[in-house]
Amino acid sequence: MTDKTMLRALKGEVLPTPPVWLMRQAGRYLPEYRATRAQAGDFLSLCYTPDLAAEVTLQPIRRYGFDAAILFADILLLPQALGLDLWFETGEGPRMSTVTSMEGVKALKGKDDIHDKLAPVYETCKILSRELPKETTFIGFAGMPWTVATYMIAGRGSKDQAAAHKFKDTDRAAFSALIDAVTDATIEYLSKQVEAGCEVVKLFDSWAGSLKGQDFEDFAVAPAKRITAELKARFPGLPVIAFPREAGEGYIGFAKKTGADCVAIDNSVSPEWAAANVQKDGCVQGNLDPSYMVTGGQALVEATQKVVAAFKNGPHIFNLGHGITPEADPENVTLLMETIRKG
Ligand code: CP3
Repeated sequence: MTDKTMLRALKGEVLPTPPVWLMRQAGRYLPEYRATRAQAGDFLSLCYTPDLAAEVTLQPIRRYGFDAAILFADILLLPQALGLDLWFETGEGPRMSTVTSMEGVKALKGKDDIHDKLAPVYETCKILSRELPKETTFIGFAGMPWTVATYMIAGRGSKDQAAAHKFKDTDRAAFSALIDAVTDATIEYLSKQVEAGCEVVKLFDSWAGSLKGQDFEDFAVAPAKRITAELKARFPGLPVIAFPREAGEGYIGFAKKTGADCVAIDNSVSPEWAAANVQKDGCVQGNLDPSYMVTGGQALVEATQKVVAAFKNGPHIFNLGHGITPEADPENVTLLMETIRKG
């Protein structure tokens, strides 16, 4: 049996202290991240420069001793490898060329033609699988097809994913073809990450919460199920974490329906609710409100203890409900780690 706490929790073991890592743990709240990013020039250059991407992945592990490291990359590298233009507008976020028709879907590269562009990411994985401490679990990831498609359809992020909903509701055949193309490519992309040393994969469906009813089943559950089944067929025993963010009631049964080993929970639901309704099926990851990492103090200590206590009777990986923000104080992460580890 492995002695990595994160892998033990993913297998369903209940540990006295939960393993912990934070979404976006390598990021702008850390001065050493900002320095390496400046050295790279811009965010995408950082993603595509293996030595520097590995360095920023390692920085929060050195500083805090998290139980897991997540590959430094972005969910939008895959659509770029499928042939779309991608850039980041300073202070605003991602922009990309769009796919809004069946012709656009057909013009995408095939699932096996993505690897030249993504080769630096696989190289980052190889460096990290050599350099991470032996107790640290290495997580690879991809965006889920619906979330990735929302950016491919709108060409940018949006609050309500209106453009993607419109495409889905007006040209279901083309929209489904896009979801299938991204699903196929995601399986190949994650397979290469695992071959290069990732021990767990996490599927980010940041906008799953805007899919309702049958759409949630068709475009959040079904792709997660297909990706999980195919990866587990190729890599028996590979743990999968699914994050259908803001799914609400959709979290219930998500692990059973998709075959995922762990469901990551955002902080719009209470840890007590998630423990009662989701953790009964297996490991849960989450779900402290990231704003405590900005405000800190006794409120952070108490909220952290509340999350740990709520999940203590089942398998749990401690994390935030969403990514740590640039405004977070690095000292508050130290306080978080002390609070969790002193139990
Ligand atoms: O968690 C990690 O530390 C691993 C690396 C990682 C990044 N993005 C690095 C990043 C991961 C797992 C992601 C996932 C991601 N990227 C998601 C899904 C999770 C989520 O946050 O909901 C999404 C939707 C994206 C797309 C994306 N990338 C957006 C919308 C933005 C701009 C918003 C922002 O925070 O600036 C990014 C940029 C990005 N991705 C940064 C980082 C560290 C900030 C870039 C910088 O240094 O300026």
